Amino acid sequence: MDIKEAINARHSVRQYQKRPIEPELVEMLNGIIEECNAESGLHIQLILDEPKCFTSLLAHYGNFERVTNYIALVGKTGMENLDEICGYYGERIVLEAQMMGLNTCWVAGTYNKRNCKAQVGPGEQIVCVISIGYGETQGKEHNSRPVSKICSENLEEMPEWFLDGLDAAMKAPTAINQQKFIISMEDGEPLITSRRGPMTKIDLGIVKYNFEAASGHKCK
Ligand SMILES: Cc1cc2nc3c(=O)[nH]c(=O)nc-3n(C[C@H](O)[C@H](O)[C@H](O)COP(=O)(O)O)c2cc1C
Repeated sequence: MDIKEAINARHSVRQYQKRPIEPELVEMLNGIIEECNAESGLHIQLILDEPKCFTSLLAHYGNFERVTNYIALVGKTGMENLDEICGYYGERIVLEAQMMGLNTCWVAGTYNKRNCKAQVGPGEQIVCVISIGYGETQGKEHNSRPVSKICSENLEEMPEWFLDGLDAAMKAPTAINQQKFIISMEDGEPLITSRRGPMTKIDLGIVKYNFEAASGHKCK
């Protein structure tokens, strides 16, 4: 599976099999997380075999079942654009996981923060977590807002790479499927901005990663 196939195949999965993640895959995931931390300055952690973070009533209402592995996105509170950077690197890990045959779900609300076993150092905070494991199903495609609400360019005049990026951006996960982002072209370069609202900056990072991975073009 290549990255575009991973973007197409990824859907939120909230119910998992009991099957543990194989040690080779754990090693690969930890390698990717290490790279992401070195590049970004974040303190992302993979936590395995720990069911308590997802046993609260909230997680129950969120329909989560048998979540025993998760990735905690942790970073310095004062870091500029912390949410967006977590979105960007978290999505890189999510798509790598998808290519390994694993399933994921971004979770900012419906987990038990107090039970989260992430190490959070002084001056650090948890931005959100991502559940990970072998899904009971592969999930299903989300409904999308009309493209015209997200991009007002004349699509017939846009290069192929831009259309690929736009398509991948529309397939990106966003909190409550809000898709509050706008994509345009500025001086030949893609520009993605977010509207106001809770978690829109995490979404922005996720959407930028998807766009860049599919189009091969860095976003402004
Ligand atoms: C930043 C962020 C936070 C999210 N928080 C939650 C959450 O607390 N509970 C939940 O069940 N899903 C959560 N989701 C998953 C979204 O509901 C899901 O990504 C969206 O509905 C699109 O569906 P898809 O991921 O299957 O494409 C979150 C997604 C993102 C990007």
